[in-house]
Amino acid sequence: MEGRTKFILLFVIAQFVGLLAVLLMGIWMGKYLGGFAWYTGSPTKFNYHPFFLTLGLIFIYGDAILVYRLFNTQNKLTIKIVHTVLQFAALLFTITGVQAVFSAHADTGSANLYSIHGWIGITTVFMFALQFTMGFFFYLFPGVSDSLKTWYMSAHRYWGVAIFVMAIATALIGSMEEVGFKIPDYNTRTAQAYVVNFMAMSLVVFGWLVTYLVSKPEYKRDASGYANMDAQS
Ligand code: HEM
Repeated sequence: MEGRTKFILLFVIAQFVGLLAVLLMGIWMGKYLGGFAWYTGSPTKFNYHPFFLTLGLIFIYGDAILVYRLFNTQNKLTIKIVHTVLQFAALLFTITGVQAVFSAHADTGSANLYSIHGWIGITTVFMFALQFTMGFFFYLFPGVSDSLKTWYMSAHRYWGVAIFVMAIATALIGSMEEVGFKIPDYNTRTAQAYVVNFMAMSLVVFGWLVTYLVSKPEYKRDASGYANMDAQS
C-alpha cells in the first residue's frame, strides 16, 4: 500500500480505537459507577478523573503528536498552533482530572499519593507540564536561535512519546486499582468487566498506532524543504 494511504488508514483506525477508549471509559464511569457530579462530598466527583485523563492526556495528546504527520505538507506555523492548542486542551483536562481525585480525597479524608498509580501518575503529569513549558519557550517564544531549537528537538520528541506511553501505563494501572475498589465480582466476567477490558485493550491499540505512526521516518513532513524546518520547530 502506498505510504500516504497507509498512514491515513492507520490514522483513521487510531481515531476509532482512541474514541472507543474514551467512550468505554465514559460508559464505565457514567453508567456503572454512578455518573458525574462535582460538588463538595459528591460520591461521583472522582469519576471525572479517569474520564478527563483518558480524553486529555491520552486521546487529545496522542492526536497532538500526530498532527505534524497528518498535515505533512501544510504551513508549519499553522500546524504548530494546532499542536499547541491541542496540547493546551490536554493540559487543562489533565489538571482538572487530577484536581478531581485530590478534591474527592479531601472530601473523604483519604490519603494522597500512596499507590504505584499515584506515584507514576504524578510523575507523568509533572513531566507533561515541564514538556509543555519547555516547548512553549523553545518554539513559541520569539528570539530563540535555530541552533537551540534544533538542539532541543530530539529531547522534545523523545519525551513527548515517553510521556504518552507513561500516560497509557498509568491509566491501565489506575483501572486495575479502580476494579479492585469497585468491582468485587470482576472474576465472574460481568458486562462491566467487559467494558473495562475492552477500554484497556483500546488504550493499548491506540498506543501502538500512535507510536508506530510517529516513529516511521517516511511519515515525517516531506523532504522538499520541510524536513529541515522540522528539526527546528
Ligand atoms: C493518564 C492517566 C492518569 C494519570 C496521570 C493519573 C494520575 C493520578 C494521580 C496523580 C493520582 C493521585 C491523587 C491523590 O493521591 O490524591 C491518582 C489517583 C487515582 N487514580 Fe489516576 N490517573 C490516570 C488515570 C486513571 C484511570 C484511567 C483510573 C481508573 C479508572 C484511575 C484511577 C485512580 C484511582 C482509583 C486513584 C485513587 C487512588 C490512588 O491514589 O491510587 N486513574 N491518579
